[in-house]
Amino acid sequence: MNVIPPPTIIPPTPDAPIVSLRAVFKSFGANNVLQGISLDVAKGETICIIGPSGSGKSTLIRCINALVPIDSGSIQVQGIEVNDPHLDKLSLRRRVGIVFQQYNLFPHKTALENIMMAPITVLKQEKAEVEARARALMKKVRLAGKEDFYPGELSGGQQQRVAIARSLAMRPDVMLFDEVTAALDPETKKEVLVTIQDLAKDGMTCIVVTHEMGFAREVSNHVYLTEHGLIVEHAPPAEFFSNPKDARTREFLSQVL
Ligand SMILES: Nc1ncnc2c1ncn2[C@@H]1O[C@H](COP(=O)(O)OP(=O)(O)OP(=O)(O)O)[C@@H](O)[C@H]1O
Ligand SMILES: [Mg+2]
Repeated sequence: MNVIPPPTIIPPTPDAPIVSLRAVFKSFGANNVLQGISLDVAKGETICIIGPSGSGKSTLIRCINALVPIDSGSIQVQGIEVNDPHLDKLSLRRRVGIVFQQYNLFPHKTALENIMMAPITVLKQEKAEVEARARALMKKVRLAGKEDFYPGELSGGQQQRVAIARSLAMRPDVMLFDEVTAALDPETKKEVLVTIQDLAKDGMTCIVVTHEMGFAREVSNHVYLTEHGLIVEHAPPAEFFSNPKDARTREFLSQVL
């Protein structure tokens, strides 16, 4: 009797990073903005990227979403090479949500309609199902009751939370946040930071560019400091803030803390 051996099944590595950057370089003309960035983000982890203005933080996260093409190196999201010229950008952007400082909601659509729009028009999902999800997302970002409000009737922080919900409506696996509280006053800033903290607690993988050191210290699993397109230092927040190794980190922290 022939015994056919069972196929070899390679189990997925449980701690394989969900986002992985290797030696990423990016220039705009003579401006070398990213000069060899490597980092890994594990599923469910929240990392904060901090650093001086112009150090390449926004460029870095835009590259992860393929909004900016890189010159060399590799960026993988769930094993998919972002820099692959054949990449289906829509499928990448379903997995990787991004929220900016400017929320850019549609002013003539209600909060709920803003959240429902992309799943219906881009993903062609069924309206009733999308609406149920959008209502649940409004609750999640602590805006239950404001579903029918127009952006102009909401505070900056509330609009930003609608923008976060809009991104979540695509059911991403990773969320990128680029200084989402920079334009907000301290009160509303906190509401948005709490929303991101809730997401992080729920296990969403979050990459957060921020100037909010309190948030980086309390919420992130890992803090990265960038300068001149390089990672100067990275560590878990307790270590990063209480025992920075690099003189540039100490200098930066002395200016912002
Ligand atoms: N599309 C672009 N074309 C040309 N130069 C760009 C472009 N985007 C960014 N840059 C340049 O790249 C450098 C890094 O910009 P980036 O926005 O990534 O910095 P940042 O760390 O996010 O700064 P900030 O803290 O002020 O937001 C800057 O010198 C900027 O002028
Ligand atoms: Mg920026």
